Amino acid sequence: MSPLSADDLPLLLNTVNEVRAWTAEAKRRGERIGFVPTMGALHEGHLSLVRASRAQCDRTVVSIYVNPSQFAPHEDFGRYPRTLESDLRQLADVAEAVFVPNDAEIYPPGFATWVEPFGPAEPLEGERRPGHFRGVATIVLKLFQIVAPDVAYFGQKDFQQLRVIEQMRDDFHLPVEIRRCPIVREPDGLAMSSRNRYLSAEGRRSATVLFRALETAAHLVSQGERSAAAIEAAVRAVLLSAAGAEIDYAALVDPLHLRPVERIVAPTLCALAVRIENTRLIDNMLLEPPN
Ligand code: PAJ
Repeated sequence: MSPLSADDLPLLLNTVNEVRAWTAEAKRRGERIGFVPTMGALHEGHLSLVRASRAQCDRTVVSIYVNPSQFAPHEDFGRYPRTLESDLRQLADVAEAVFVPNDAEIYPPGFATWVEPFGPAEPLEGERRPGHFRGVATIVLKLFQIVAPDVAYFGQKDFQQLRVIEQMRDDFHLPVEIRRCPIVREPDGLAMSSRNRYLSAEGRRSATVLFRALETAAHLVSQGERSAAAIEAAVRAVLLSAAGAEIDYAALVDPLHLRPVERIVAPTLCALAVRIENTRLIDNMLLEPPN
């Protein structure tokens, strides 16, 4: 690997004031700011968002912050991968600035205000991970306030998170455009995720079952199946065929409110959460019935 050269790397900003000064300067020049919030451990999924921003905006800011408030006490906050040096290297030539705050900068002593999202935040992940979207909405609102981007980029990998952010944008009149970006997958279909690295070689093989289950659902819809119960049963059967896969949920929901549908008569989200070797993987696909 070549040694890090300061010229190639994005500007590293650690404090709210540094980001504000950087943003103000860019705005004075009339530049459009694109923003990609992440928790680091960057992979091609994240980088696809950064590239979209680079293509569509004048300046791109990425944030890297493993937000403690969106993890429950029993979850993987402690072992979540932290790979700052390699992250910065991957952002060379694609982002102009990277915001890497510490906990004291984001949650100083006395921090006392939270965003409590309802609606699309309630089902699915909301039921299984109480408090998760409260942590996500709070950090994303804070980051929007700090960076003040014109456009922010989110992956459909976390489809429900996207809906929660869009709802918050509408409810709080946030002056930011939210862009949805497609799921980036490994060649065998596994959606890229920082958590894939927790899997053993065997678990990694089992993990391809999520994509196979989603493809089964899409195939059934393309063949004319309209019953959500029938599709869900087929999806569950595929998931359970993989060694060690435990289904947390496998649901057919409307892509606005994330509530169950009975018939596939409009675009419907097939949303999965599956545990493999104690790693919780999520994936989804929009099923579009042909007219
Ligand atoms: P993180 O999991 O790091 O994801 C950051 C962004 O990358 C999210 O918008 C996510 O949907 C997107 N992403 C992850 N894997 C992807 C893939 N395979 N294809 C396309 N996009 C992908 O999501 C979070 O962080 C946090 O909740 C955050 C929004 C940063 C708030 O802490």
